[in-house]
Amino acid sequence: MAQDERKTEPDAAARIRETQASLARSRSAQAASVPLIGPSTARYESREKVTGQARYAGDVGPVGAAYAYAISAPVARGRITRMDVSDAQRVPGVLRIYDHQSMKGRVKPLAILGEGGYAATSLTPMSGPDIAHDGQIVGLVVAESYEAAREAANRVKLDIQATKPSACFGDPGLRTRPLSEVRKTKMWKDPKVGNADAAFSAAPLKVEAEYATPTQHHNPIELYSTTCMWSDGRLTIHEPSAGVNILKHGVAEQLGIVPELVDVISPFVGGMFGSKVAVTSRTVVIALAARDLGRPVKCVSTREQGFTNATHRAETRHKVKLSCGTDGRLASYGHEGSELTSRTDAYTVNGTQNTVHMYAWPALDTKVLMVEADRNTPGFMRSPPEVPYMFALEVAMDEMAEKAGIDPVKFRQINDAQTSTYENKRFTSRSVIQCLNQGATAFGWSRRNPRPGSMRDGDWLVGYGVAMASYPTVHVPAAVRVRVLADGTAAVQIAAHDPGTGAYTMAAMIAGQELGIDPQKVRVEMGDSRLPPGPLAGGSNTTASICNAIAQACSNIRVRLNVAPGQAVTMALTSGAVEEYLDWAPPGLEAAKAMTANYKGQPEFWGGAAGADALRFAFGAEFVEVRVHARTREIRVPRITGAFAAGRIMNKRTAHSQLMGGLIWGIGSALHEATEIDRRASKYVNDNIAEYLIPVNADIPAVEVIMIPEDDREANALGIKGVGELGNVGTAAAIANAVYHATGKRVRDLPIRIENLLPDVKRV
Ligand code: MOS
Repeated sequence: MAQDERKTEPDAAARIRETQASLARSRSAQAASVPLIGPSTARYESREKVTGQARYAGDVGPVGAAYAYAISAPVARGRITRMDVSDAQRVPGVLRIYDHQSMKGRVKPLAILGEGGYAATSLTPMSGPDIAHDGQIVGLVVAESYEAAREAANRVKLDIQATKPSACFGDPGLRTRPLSEVRKTKMWKDPKVGNADAAFSAAPLKVEAEYATPTQHHNPIELYSTTCMWSDGRLTIHEPSAGVNILKHGVAEQLGIVPELVDVISPFVGGMFGSKVAVTSRTVVIALAARDLGRPVKCVSTREQGFTNATHRAETRHKVKLSCGTDGRLASYGHEGSELTSRTDAYTVNGTQNTVHMYAWPALDTKVLMVEADRNTPGFMRSPPEVPYMFALEVAMDEMAEKAGIDPVKFRQINDAQTSTYENKRFTSRSVIQCLNQGATAFGWSRRNPRPGSMRDGDWLVGYGVAMASYPTVHVPAAVRVRVLADGTAAVQIAAHDPGTGAYTMAAMIAGQELGIDPQKVRVEMGDSRLPPGPLAGGSNTTASICNAIAQACSNIRVRLNVAPGQAVTMALTSGAVEEYLDWAPPGLEAAKAMTANYKGQPEFWGGAAGADALRFAFGAEFVEVRVHARTREIRVPRITGAFAAGRIMNKRTAHSQLMGGLIWGIGSALHEATEIDRRASKYVNDNIAEYLIPVNADIPAVEVIMIPEDDREANALGIKGVGELGNVGTAAAIANAVYHATGKRVRDLPIRIENLLPDVKRV
């Protein structure tokens, strides 16, 4: 099927060009007539999920399957000199034990996603004796049962020549290089405007400080798993994946077979936020084992293995310099970010690409440094650039406002930039002032006494803090098939993904709206590489991409059936069905090229700062109250208010969930979340879920989400900006700022812990 679809590319490209202009006109005209905040619709798949009917990839247990268990490297750096499997082979039920010698040469190298490949790491699985990080897969046991495979894996004896690893910032043996030198396929230019050093020196008021964010792991509820089966030379992979086409093409390349022979099935994803998109090391070795044994092989990673076999949010450091005049107008912005990565890959989030557009500074100077350690390659995790970089900037903004003697809400409003000083681009819409005003009113910001430590309620020190959220509005190409049947129902097929966000619901809603039928009558299929290639779930692109694509396909059907907007297309069908297959590409991309890449599982992102015409971003303002106990320094967050403007909101209920979830995650990020590492061994210490601290209901009594209507049909035809990641940007900074306001202690290193707030006592 994929082969046939590829042949349609030139036709599809021509069709896209034809329809693109009319799309913008008709969509935009029609969009004007529907509310900016859509209905509150229950999730399409909610009944299936709460009744346990939803079959996740890990639920697949094929008849006759064998079970695999990975052998993890016990050191972070070294070389395997001998692997003794004699004891392991005696475990009843063991079928095969693989090591780097038996796997050698069988897996072809794969570049990482974003560097022309599909992988989470460019380490080729089990390709040699060298160990590059703790937990690296160095062997695989396949047995009749999971228990037997695990038992045998534990009996394999490894002789290792270990070398002392470099684990963290400040450790000996790290290699530091500017990102502009490291980037292999894409040129990286650190944003600069004017002479920021001179402006900083000349300014009367300045802030210069260092900030830090820790390693964080996704730790999704649904464990990482892979089940592979071969039939007549075709491979089927059941794996929780939010990028089924990425996995399909990546594994095909690793195996050296054509992608048409690989199917990936992943209808539901039980949590991921970035960690189930790129190809990790386990999949291809499971596929090879299944082929060797001639039977299905299933592998479920343990919690601990998930910490090293998948990705994580990289640890970062920041040097920020801000300066302003006595009138409170910013004069300069300096930001040097350092990101910890592996020795094998320069994975970067280069957050300055977005922070430079935040405020009206006339001069700026930024730099991103890559710091290579003996760690596994990091990857993207909810708001990858913004969480670390906006934390540093938004705490620095609070410090700057205080120096200027200006309220931090007003300070941000004074420095609002409707046109960015970097590249002099305007925003298609930017509702920073509205977010600040509405958030402040709802929160009761006017009750804040600006003096730190001045607000108290009994034993509790009370603090109010504010910070901004921003997130680029991005789109990726999407192919979609819409079928309308004479029985009054419709079907939408698109290999997009719903990792709990509401994507299924959105697809049904937009199709129902455009076809003039009840969304309940729209059947949606997603998460399967046999469907038309839709977007990966990343960069909060899904709603904007799939809704624009589906709307266009439906509108084409309406034109074919000669049905006016607002009327039901099913009325025009007396028998049979009508079907539309459409390739949609974001308007700023060269359509034919973008779609060719999409069919290869190489989605091109467009939007954010990439638009030649303007900048596309969503914004929010977050307000928090913290209470710090005067004696114990226990930190509580009794209430939080977020006001967001993110263009059209398709579904009020699911958007609210995304934003609220983001705010709550932000609380965890500020106060609880850090993957601790044993620096001597470069090993994660709390690699489990028991010590994975997240805020529970008792920790979050009041969360208020305000969605501000924003009509921006220039961002895209439907004016959808996306809300998946916006909510947790800025929360940690708002809490750090509130903690300062409550206590007078400025904490610039996350997470903020009780010990950071204790009086400085001399230790004996
Ligand atoms: Mo985000 S982790 O780029 O969906």
